[in-house]
Amino acid sequence: MTVDQHQPSSGGVTASRTCLICRTPFEPFMSFGRQPIANAFLTPDQFGSEFFYELKVGTCPSCHMVQLGQHVDPGLMFHEQYAFFSGTSKGMTVHFAELAAAMRERYLGGPDPFVVEIGSNDGILLQNYLGTPIRHLGVEPSGNVADVARAKGIQTISRFFDPGLAAEIVVQHGQADVVTAANVMCHIPDLHSVVAGIRSLLKPTGALVFEDPYLGDIVEKASYDQIYDEHAFYFSVTSLQRLFAMHELEIVDAEPQDVHGGSMRYTVRHRGSGAVSSRVATQLQRETAAGLARDETYADLRRRIETSRDELVALLRRAKSDGKRVVGYGATSKSTTVTNYCGIGPDLVEFISDTTPIKQGKVSPGTHIPVRPYTEFQSRPPDYALLFAWNHAREILAKERPFVEAGGAFIVYVPKVGILS
Ligand code: SAH
Ligand code: TYD
Repeated sequence: MTVDQHQPSSGGVTASRTCLICRTPFEPFMSFGRQPIANAFLTPDQFGSEFFYELKVGTCPSCHMVQLGQHVDPGLMFHEQYAFFSGTSKGMTVHFAELAAAMRERYLGGPDPFVVEIGSNDGILLQNYLGTPIRHLGVEPSGNVADVARAKGIQTISRFFDPGLAAEIVVQHGQADVVTAANVMCHIPDLHSVVAGIRSLLKPTGALVFEDPYLGDIVEKASYDQIYDEHAFYFSVTSLQRLFAMHELEIVDAEPQDVHGGSMRYTVRHRGSGAVSSRVATQLQRETAAGLARDETYADLRRRIETSRDELVALLRRAKSDGKRVVGYGATSKSTTVTNYCGIGPDLVEFISDTTPIKQGKVSPGTHIPVRPYTEFQSRPPDYALLFAWNHAREILAKERPFVEAGGAFIVYVPKVGILS
């Protein structure tokens, strides 16, 4: 599918005033104002047609699903020029090798095992099953990243997953022992249709294993940059339990993951087909204690986000008036919310260093900060590196020891605005 991301055909957004899970009306608790598509890095000739929408987020008073109030058309976000390549992080490559091994051990040891991945991107997960007896199939609508997976020998269908595609897969390949999805379930507004498709695709003994950024971490750390167009939902065990019950499925495990700023790995099976780990009840208790189902929690989150914005802008202005050079580290999609919500442009951040070739030579969405190759960060190290890729902090701080030893410092804003000493 080829879509020009800057030429929406029919408005490009859908407003949603009722919960996408249970249809209860809800009001957003916060607006981040006008935002561009988070991954739509662009060139100056595209400025005139840059696409904007209002980014707002709310929580359903009935099922407590936290969700966006406007949805950008999927074809505008996922296409032949998609900018996110999973394999750019070594840490995530290791993480997915471990996930592949865990699923193999738990669910893929039977005869003729078959795994389907939704949102398989460049094959970062499925590549671990190449050369094994495990049959695999990736579903990845963004053609350019799917091509990278195919070049590795990974079987990939370039389509959006839905019940129709699930039925076709069952006819051609049979039902799956495992359906897996990382950082994609939360991307799909029509979650009921995806879950219905997964249910028909899974063997009676099969398991859905998926992970996404976790609401509990977002609330605790005020990591508001997780909120952007691609993330239609901010999951908790509480809200997902209700969704899966509507499809006669149940969450049998919930395991916190130390990736992408705090994620949760959920294992879901046909109702009654597997033992439920005590971790599920533990997690539900933690969510109650953290107030994830209470309105006051989100009013407080909004205040903390506003404070974070004010402190970050003040710090960057101070750096500028002190004559310091600030360069962004990692042109993440998350940083699009930060730069546009805080009004951070090239006046405060000279350029953003990023290792992804497709982003280099372009500018960031909305506030148009130039994106430059990492070699430029190395050849002209700034006084401060603004850590947009804070979710990869462990990997980056280890790599950038020489930068710090030479007198450079990292500015961070999650969980608090400050300069790392
Ligand atoms: N699983 C990878 C990629 C996550 S990015 C990882 O965790 O790193 C989300 C991916 O899901 C993108 O590659 C996007 O093209 C894909 N995607 C978005 N909507 C989808 C849908 N409805 N069905 C299948 N894949 C989808
Ligand atoms: P990431 O935080 O994984 O995702 P998202 O776009 O969903 O917010 O993106 C990391 C970005 O940072 C990606 O463009 C690659 C870049 N990057 C670097 O430039 N250097 C690094 O050392 C790492 C780990 C990432």
